[in-house]
Amino acid sequence: MHRSKHLTAAALVAAFALAVPRAAAEDNPKRGAEVYRACGACHSLQPGIHLTGPSLAGMWGKKTGTAEGFLRYSQALKSQDIVWDENTLNAWLADPKAMVPGNYMTFRGMHSNRDRGDLIAFLKLAMAAGGTKAVIDKGLISADMTEGQRPEPLGQAGPQQQVTRLRHCRETFFVTTADGTETPHWEMNVRIKIDTSNTGPPAGRPVIVGAGMMGDRVSIVFADVSEIAATLKSTCEG
Ligand code: HEC
Repeated sequence: MHRSKHLTAAALVAAFALAVPRAAAEDNPKRGAEVYRACGACHSLQPGIHLTGPSLAGMWGKKTGTAEGFLRYSQALKSQDIVWDENTLNAWLADPKAMVPGNYMTFRGMHSNRDRGDLIAFLKLAMAAGGTKAVIDKGLISADMTEGQRPEPLGQAGPQQQVTRLRHCRETFFVTTADGTETPHWEMNVRIKIDTSNTGPPAGRPVIVGAGMMGDRVSIVFADVSEIAATLKSTCEG
């Protein structure tokens, strides 16, 4: 009973995938690499580098929701019984919400058949096993672009960015940095973050960085969750 239900869902997705028109012969992977810029905000093509979305490295021909080490998949995507190929990617990129209701990819969809065709021609090479190196070697994309929009590296932060004390009083965070200055920030403008990647702050050395267009927001980035409790104090004593 359960099994047949499963098959029906898979068949529906397959039928859906075939219903979305797809360009073919003249698909241009070089142009597709340009179109791919829209994806780099959330995806890398480097194995194991996960951003908002999972790394796409090696996912061609793999089942949905199986990138190793990515913990943020929706149940909706993980439970699909489909693999990534020209047809399934074509339907996903045209309208992710329609193909997999309840998925977490906040991407409206790509309506141009030509853009999707070229992008998929690029992804067919880039998402293949060993494809990341191949597309860099072929000159389709720079090595830098395959990493996607990774967070800014924080290892080399100067003294004016190194947070030595962090206290909260009423609606204000007071941030003391290694150059000896204490600066007040409205609590709603402060984001407390953790960057556990190898470009995050060194252990025990949280960093403050500007964020947002208006210049009034800051992020305070820690290397580890335990550092937040060790550093952040509730006190009005300066
Ligand atoms: C705003 C962030 C964002 C953008 C932009 C985005 N994605 Fe995604 N993508 C995600 C997230 C998050 C998931 C995981 C969805 C889930 O688990 O439901 C995902 C999942 C996927 C998957 C399934 C991977 C797997 O492991 O099964 C593919 C393929 C994919 N995206 C391709 C693309 C392509 C190609 C683009 C560019 C056109 C793109 N995405 C743009 C966030 C994004």
